[in-house]
Amino acid sequence: MLNCVASLQEALFSLHPAGFTRKDSTLKTQLVCLIMVVPESQGELYHPPPDLQRDAHVPDFSSYVGMYKKSLENPEAFWKEVADEFFWKKPATGPMLQYNFDVTKGNIFVKCMEGAKTNMCYNVLDRHVREGNLGEKVAYYWEGNSPEHHTTITYGQMLSSVCRCANVLKRMGVRKGDRVSIYLPMIPELVYTMLACARIGAVHSVVFAGFSSDSLCERIMDAQSSVLVTADGVYRGDKLINLKQISDEALEKSREKGSSSISKCLVIKHQALRMKTGASCNKLQTPWDSERDEWWDEAMSDSSEDCEPEWLDAEDPLFILYTSGSTGKPKGVVHTVAGYLLYTFLTFKCVFDYHHDDVYWCTADIGWITGHSYITYGPLANGATSVLFEGIPVHPHVGRFWEIIEKYKVTKFYTAPTAIRLLMKYGQEPLQKYDLSSLRILGTVGEPINPEAWLWYYKTVGQSRCPVVDTFWQTETGGHVLTPLPAATPLKPGSATFPFFGVEPTILNEHGEEVEGEAEGYLVFRKPWPGIMRTVYENHERFENTYFKKFPGFYVTGDGARRDKDGYFWITGRIDDMLNVSGHLLSTAEVEAALTLHSAVSEAAVVSRPHQVKGECLYCFVTLKDSWEFDKKTVAELKTLVREKIGPIATPDFIQNAPALPKTRSGKIMRRILRQIARNEKDLGDLSTLADPKVVEVLFSQRSKAAA
Ligand code: PRX
Repeated sequence: MLNCVASLQEALFSLHPAGFTRKDSTLKTQLVCLIMVVPESQGELYHPPPDLQRDAHVPDFSSYVGMYKKSLENPEAFWKEVADEFFWKKPATGPMLQYNFDVTKGNIFVKCMEGAKTNMCYNVLDRHVREGNLGEKVAYYWEGNSPEHHTTITYGQMLSSVCRCANVLKRMGVRKGDRVSIYLPMIPELVYTMLACARIGAVHSVVFAGFSSDSLCERIMDAQSSVLVTADGVYRGDKLINLKQISDEALEKSREKGSSSISKCLVIKHQALRMKTGASCNKLQTPWDSERDEWWDEAMSDSSEDCEPEWLDAEDPLFILYTSGSTGKPKGVVHTVAGYLLYTFLTFKCVFDYHHDDVYWCTADIGWITGHSYITYGPLANGATSVLFEGIPVHPHVGRFWEIIEKYKVTKFYTAPTAIRLLMKYGQEPLQKYDLSSLRILGTVGEPINPEAWLWYYKTVGQSRCPVVDTFWQTETGGHVLTPLPAATPLKPGSATFPFFGVEPTILNEHGEEVEGEAEGYLVFRKPWPGIMRTVYENHERFENTYFKKFPGFYVTGDGARRDKDGYFWITGRIDDMLNVSGHLLSTAEVEAALTLHSAVSEAAVVSRPHQVKGECLYCFVTLKDSWEFDKKTVAELKTLVREKIGPIATPDFIQNAPALPKTRSGKIMRRILRQIARNEKDLGDLSTLADPKVVEVLFSQRSKAAA
């Protein structure tokens, strides 16, 4: 073991004969932590399998340390090497990265490769087809909700569909910089539309197809999109969802609010054509506005395959993706072309140790950032073959995931802890029916993974031979920021381990002071990496206030983290008013706003409570107006209301009657106390700041009547 430490030390110092020349103590601490990794924790570490290490991009820990050191000490050279993989219509005139992270010194900004001109779509499609000879290579194996529905799409076919779609959008009046909202299930046309936007310089705004018409309306209005792309309908499990009807409701609502920016709606005949269920959901039963709506297949049939890419500035926006904000209003996170390309490319390549013959499968929905970065852009930038799955893990049977892994011989598999916990409940039997021997690397994302789920994933799914990469990141970070590298990092179940290249994390205490060594506090980043968000769409002030005001000089993640004695990072969860339900962020404020729309409710407060499968679930306290009874009917109405206003992911698990809420004398709700009541933790500590401490007793006494 000591040899290993010595070799790590050697690796570090050989890279720079003078050892650490930089005065920056945090970098030094970080690196010292890294070289300390191996000796102290022998018992609990899971080491990379030697066969994976043989041809890995980052084959051992000392390589990781060396590359990490280079990425921080010489980011210019580090990112330049990555940029050299891609096509640039014009080279950069500025440095690889410029930034200001300190609000006290002026506007916050990040710029990558200023002056360069390129096109994302060209780099992820044309480059492979024209220069890489990958025209015949499979880009996606599409697997429908039902196992009977599947298709294969090559890079060449995709390029042709994307160009035709780009021309349709252009004919509809979409120009560089215009926004296009996309409300689609997990079908190939979703990827085509994103890339068609990227090709013509339009900014896509994908809205998860599980969101309600209100949520879609809010996102369309904020982005002021001119075109909406949607589908007639989709089956999710056994449930048929009429997406066009929801879309029409959203557009109607935006009209009522005096803001109808959408002039054209392009509709994919998914149910009626591909699923051949014409009778249940066909053109006649799909609400239609012949002035505004066009069927995709008709529009595409006479659209040309020739479409010259729009050459964009490196810092032009690529997309907007909305994420919950603590005020309740979602934030339009903006990512830009060049930095996002470099970062999703490199993280995908290193974190999944991508090789040409891999079959990679990420089970996320493209409506979330995981799908954007690790179904669309990262894999395509690498020329990878991926599975694109429309369905859910338990339809038509609980072995569906394992069946798909066997069917396509998946080598790299990326899913969420909530899915793992769900599938764990069914035991080993569903897995034993399938051959999972193709698997080499497993990944998780979205929320902290509990060690029990980690070990089940590692031992039962990965048969103790596949490293588990627990990737911590956010919509805002664009790509992985804390993550193991599969052939390099000794793993600890439940830890996202170490920073990715170019990422400098640190932990701050309440006073904004950096804490060294073993410590817990606010997880922040000291400087940007190419893929970090650039702004909140049309609201730069909100961007600065949300992420940079609390601790000037740092990007504040909103998560807590602990660093252990070996330097490993452990995410402890959100430390703001956000909840993480099944890996999806929700703000307490948005759920509270939905609840208080009910005429019975005078006040609502929402907190999280641990949940065996979802990680966290919603526990809602509602104070009813005098004349109302807290009964089953009201509870059912409240649940429906939240589903309608936000979407099924926000459905409350518990609703409790709260004759009053615990408040400070200044009227602030004490959520800490509500969280403890929801969790039935009796030891409440100091209650002296409460205006009326008796409220707590009442809430405990009502707890057993909380409606699940
Ligand atoms: O709280 C962290 C949690 O998910 C949040 C980001 O959510 P979102 O922007 O929707 O993106 C999710 C997919 C990247 C984070 O602030 N989170 C994400 N990954 C992890 C995690 N918490 C712990 N461990 C992770 N691996």
